[in-house]
Amino acid sequence: MTDRQRGVPRREFLKAAVAIGGAAALSACLDRSDVDVPRGPADPSSHPERQHAWNEVLPTDDHGNPVPPRHRVLLYLEYQGDEPPTDSDRETMETALRGVERAYERSGDGLLLTTSYSPAYFERFDQSLPATVDLPAPEALASFEDPELDAPDAVVHLASNTAPVVLGAEEALKGNEGTLNDVEQPGAALTDVFEVVDRRTGFVGKGLPAENDDVEGVPEDEVPEDAPLYMGFESGFRGNQASEDRISIQTGPFVDGTTQHISNITLNLNQWYEQDSRYQRVAKMFCPHHASEGTVEGTGDTLGTDTEMDECKHATDAAREEGVVGHSQKMVEVREDDEPLILRRDFDSTDGEQAGLHFLALQRGITDFVTTREAMNGDDLAAQSAVGQRNNNGILQYMNVTNRGNFLLPPRSLRALPPANPDTTREVSHAPA
Ligand code: HEM
Repeated sequence: MTDRQRGVPRREFLKAAVAIGGAAALSACLDRSDVDVPRGPADPSSHPERQHAWNEVLPTDDHGNPVPPRHRVLLYLEYQGDEPPTDSDRETMETALRGVERAYERSGDGLLLTTSYSPAYFERFDQSLPATVDLPAPEALASFEDPELDAPDAVVHLASNTAPVVLGAEEALKGNEGTLNDVEQPGAALTDVFEVVDRRTGFVGKGLPAENDDVEGVPEDEVPEDAPLYMGFESGFRGNQASEDRISIQTGPFVDGTTQHISNITLNLNQWYEQDSRYQRVAKMFCPHHASEGTVEGTGDTLGTDTEMDECKHATDAAREEGVVGHSQKMVEVREDDEPLILRRDFDSTDGEQAGLHFLALQRGITDFVTTREAMNGDDLAAQSAVGQRNNNGILQYMNVTNRGNFLLPPRSLRALPPANPDTTREVSHAPA
């Protein structure tokens, strides 16, 4: 039994199994229930070239919105090998990844995984990244934030609706499981070439935030039982997400890759739930029109496939006339072809016993994220109206960004320790978004 597990009642331990991690958490989950997840193919090389092509294998809700995987682990990794990385280290990493892909099918209930690399990782190569990759170092993105800038070499994202699948994959990638889902593991581990320097965890989906409301930053028994996120509303409607086509890199050696921004955000929802009214919550998350018209019922499930932003005023008019502007409402002006620039795959977290969010966003280039975040800041709105820099300015008042990191998510064929400028000239396989 580990120190973290000692003294934690069994029910609590199971609830927190993914956050705690390790062999004990995995075996506690397995004791409680069988994992009924189909195995993956013996040769997973037919998996899509886009590591981020999750939507086609995710279940959908009654309205056809993809339902994001409920359990998540982010492994932050430092490369330990030669500079530049050797082909033998690449093979070790690829072999380890294929081991877990053979154990679990690629699906929402099975395993979805991506690998990604930071600008700091690519600095070890003589060549720079091609001009088709927009991957600056991370920086603070608001005048009122001072985040730690993350620069691990790589991040592996593990996702599944089945908690023991995430835990099992992690243990196998660390070389701690000889057999996974009755599939023998290859004897190659991620930890043969990387040191795990950080581990971030979380969850998203109906019931999970309410179940995990016993941490700092969220009042107990206030989060709606069926809410998928701590702030109490549905998110990720298909009409409010960028498509996987839009966010994919279109040309150059990293075609079919994308970029990933991961911020860690701590939440303080005491005022949100204990002082703000339902009107204020809906106005600040969506727009004042939706608050006064009662457009959003419960968690917003009845909205269907999008947040009906065309019913809301322009953000500038709402700020001036209503003194409050909605989070979604502010983002509308940065859409292109009526589509947001970013695909959000964020999830809540209890890391550090604090309610928070790992805001993981995919976009063709990091500039698209920065543009989106600037719209969320609404500095111009605050300058021109009674809306404050953070007060009544969407949901800024309730969140604090503690970390930011930027990563390239290469196509699958380059997912193991890619060089900065690989010598491949594949053409784009689909029409540009
Ligand atoms: C506590 C953190 C956050 C929560 C709870 C949250 C929640 C939401 C909700 C409920 C919506 C509308 C419904 C939907 O998602 O389909 C939305 C939309 C959106 N959010 Fe957030 N959000 C958060 C942070 C962020 C951040 C940090 C960004 C990026 C800078 C962001 C970017 C967007 C975008 C681009 C949209 C879609 C806007 C459109 O339809 O054009 N959100 N968010």
